[in-house]
Amino acid sequence: MRKDISQFVKKVSLNGYSKIDGFLNYEEVKELENNTNTAFKKAKKNFYHTNTNFVKVLSVNEEQSEKIRYFKFLNQFFIDTNIKNFVDEYFKSTETEISKIFLAESSNNGTKVDVLPYKMHFDKTRYLKFMIYLKDVFAGDGGVTFAKAEWNTKLQKDLLMRESLKEENVVEVNNLDHIEEIMGPAGTAAVFDTNITHKAGQVLSNNKRLVLRIDTRIKI
Ligand SMILES: [Fe+2]
Repeated sequence: MRKDISQFVKKVSLNGYSKIDGFLNYEEVKELENNTNTAFKKAKKNFYHTNTNFVKVLSVNEEQSEKIRYFKFLNQFFIDTNIKNFVDEYFKSTETEISKIFLAESSNNGTKVDVLPYKMHFDKTRYLKFMIYLKDVFAGDGGVTFAKAEWNTKLQKDLLMRESLKEENVVEVNNLDHIEEIMGPAGTAAVFDTNITHKAGQVLSNNKRLVLRIDTRIKI
């Protein structure tokens, strides 16, 4: 890859997340979109993390991206020095890894729900995630949402005082000025630390959402 993303490390360290415009260019996105659609068609059942009428998720590790024909297009991310340097610098460690890559297609199931992961929350297990949109995401298309830095800190402190940490910790946010939904054309990415308050986006439009997500962490 392509775009120099090193300048965004600081922003993610300060705010917990950053939008990166043009993380992938048009040609890169088109190729990934085609390969992702092929992977959904060809993948064996055991690679499916979720497979319903409205949500399909495939998860792939590095070894699988080396060995399985229809996942080979993902290997470029596992060995990408641009991403590796970003993650190392963020965690201030060279002992980092891409644990998995997820391919996710979601569409509107007709009901708006108010359950995790569609509620604002933060995670106990810490990952730095790259969420890359392979189709345009605008209003109603289910962009990922984050609490802005100044609120995130306060919200987390309040919650930490009240109860011990669970795997996913729900935070009530009533003021929309305190949050930001990441929207943008295909190729836009959101990079975020799962310890920032966030929520997954629900697709409420008639557009299909297609996302490639790279999960990274300090090696365990
Ligand atoms: Fe989460």
